[in-house]
Amino acid sequence: MVINSAEFIKSSTKTSDCPQSLLPEFAFIGRSNVGKSTLINMLINQRKLAKTSSTPGKTQLINHFLINESWYLVDLPGLGFAKAPIKEKKKWEKMLKEYLLQRKQLMCTFFLVDIRHSAQKIDMEFMKWMGTNQLPFAIIFTKTDKLSKNKINKNINNYLKQLSEDWEPLPPVFVSSGIEAVGRDEILSYIDDCQKLFNNNTNYK
Ligand code: GTP
Ligand code: MG
Repeated sequence: MVINSAEFIKSSTKTSDCPQSLLPEFAFIGRSNVGKSTLINMLINQRKLAKTSSTPGKTQLINHFLINESWYLVDLPGLGFAKAPIKEKKKWEKMLKEYLLQRKQLMCTFFLVDIRHSAQKIDMEFMKWMGTNQLPFAIIFTKTDKLSKNKINKNINNYLKQLSEDWEPLPPVFVSSGIEAVGRDEILSYIDDCQKLFNNNTNYK
């Protein structure tokens, strides 16, 4: 897919404030600081459209970006930002879950995982929750520029082994680096394929 245009549309605090449009959308979720905003910028070829920061908890709203005037890319707040007050964390989680459950044009959620870390309880629980609610998702391993090829393969295998205790079949898996633009073509063509399904399925309209 060629990205011809990418435009920030709006930030929303709740699902009912999200753009009133039925264009297909693709969301990016994962623990705080995992690299969601950086990956989005890499995918759309813009350095600064999605705000990034080395301080976790930067993205606190549901951010919609309109791509090629035909689909939305959605940057979500980080899961489980450790430093946020519990009340704030609960509020974000509620907002995220409502968005994921209510947004019927949501085609796929990309669940981002830092390639350097083993499977974390919060990630496993969230993926399980997505599965229970029949929400389609794919996994993207981020920050692969930080490890050697051998270590990348080893970590992915370990992670998938742990996932296979809960999942059969396993969700689609991608590897990425927001810094070195790794994984861009693969992720964009997956989005393309999902959209073809959307266009052929009138139930969504
Ligand atoms: P929140 O909005 O706080 O949830 O964070 P986020 O998941 O959007 O992460 P963000 O994109 O802001 O990146 C967090 C930090 O990780 C920044 O310092 C980025 O430069 C760094 N980072 C993100 N992706 C990569 C990557 O692929 N490689 C490397 N080396 N650093 C990355
Ligand atoms: Mg962010």
